[in-house]
Amino acid sequence: MILVTGATGHVGSELVRLLAAAGEPVRAMTRWPAQARFPADAEAVYGDAADPESLAAAFAGVGGAFLMSAQAVGTAPEPTHDLALAAAAERAGVRRVVKLSTLDGGTGDDPIARWQRTAEAAVTDPARGFAWTLLRPGRFMSNALQWAGQLRTGDEVAIPFADRPAASIDPSDLAEIAALALTTGEHTDAVYELSGPQSLTPTEELAVLGEVLGRDLRVRPVSTDAARAGMSRYGFPPEVVDAIMRRTLDGDRGSEVLPTAEKVLGRPARTFARWARAHAAEFPRP
Ligand SMILES: NC(=O)c1ccc[n+]([C@@H]2O[C@H](COP(=O)([O-])OP(=O)(O)OC[C@H]3O[C@@H](n4cnc5c(N)ncnc54)[C@H](OP(=O)(O)O)[C@@H]3O)[C@@H](O)[C@H]2O)c1
Repeated sequence: MILVTGATGHVGSELVRLLAAAGEPVRAMTRWPAQARFPADAEAVYGDAADPESLAAAFAGVGGAFLMSAQAVGTAPEPTHDLALAAAAERAGVRRVVKLSTLDGGTGDDPIARWQRTAEAAVTDPARGFAWTLLRPGRFMSNALQWAGQLRTGDEVAIPFADRPAASIDPSDLAEIAALALTTGEHTDAVYELSGPQSLTPTEELAVLGEVLGRDLRVRPVSTDAARAGMSRYGFPPEVVDAIMRRTLDGDRGSEVLPTAEKVLGRPARTFARWARAHAAEFPRP
């Protein structure tokens, strides 16, 4: 049995679909199992990483697990959700673990790196005995879904850092890589830094989306102060906001096209245009 956490999310939902389609016994964890729509062959299970006791039932009898956390960096003294998930996996005797981390993971020494280092170590610690794989992707193409609300009322979208390029990745490619790591045993002890196939700015991504939707979409620039205020409203403490600003504005990390996704998948990673066509129905039409 493979347990997928974050099973209603962009990566997890696709992973559940892939595993179920391949005939793998799969259990999909969510805090809202009654509302969730999973493939008929997948078993829905309740689990909340903020409530470690709820995880024992979710992990019972599981041989492989996909672990992700939605806990925002710095909103607790340490990544308690990652720690709870890894501890539950160990207690249940899970053998194979794929963890969704983030580009550069625990490398470096800012509050984000320190948080990710603890989160990754919870899985890679040899004492846990997992056969692990770390996925470290940069920006997700699905972040463009955040524009959908603004596109309901007009053709302008306020986007911070709209001219900073990133080689964003399709979460479906991450799901496919996770499925390979969970089912083949060929990716044990691997740390995969992952990107999509093209480096595009959000302004360029918006133009591609506009073509797909048949709309002339424009960026409304967001000042640095307004971007900082938005992050604070999201719950990030000031030192994490500073770290995000430094990571976004200094250097070009995240903009390189990395070879790993294509190597692991044996085909080119999906483009933003393909993602936009696949998700067009999630955006309002004129
Ligand atoms: N977006 C990016 O650009 C980017 C880049 C690099 C890495 N990442 C990483 O990717 C992950 C996000 O993946 P995603 O986009 O697939 O997720 P997502 O679509 O944002 O969905 C979040 C998932 O987290 C689950 N969740 C929320 N709170 C939970 C809790 N207390 N206990 C258990 N599950 C909980 C939700 O499940 P329910 O609500 O159904 O319970 C949902 O399935 C994060 O770890 C992020 O750091 C993202």
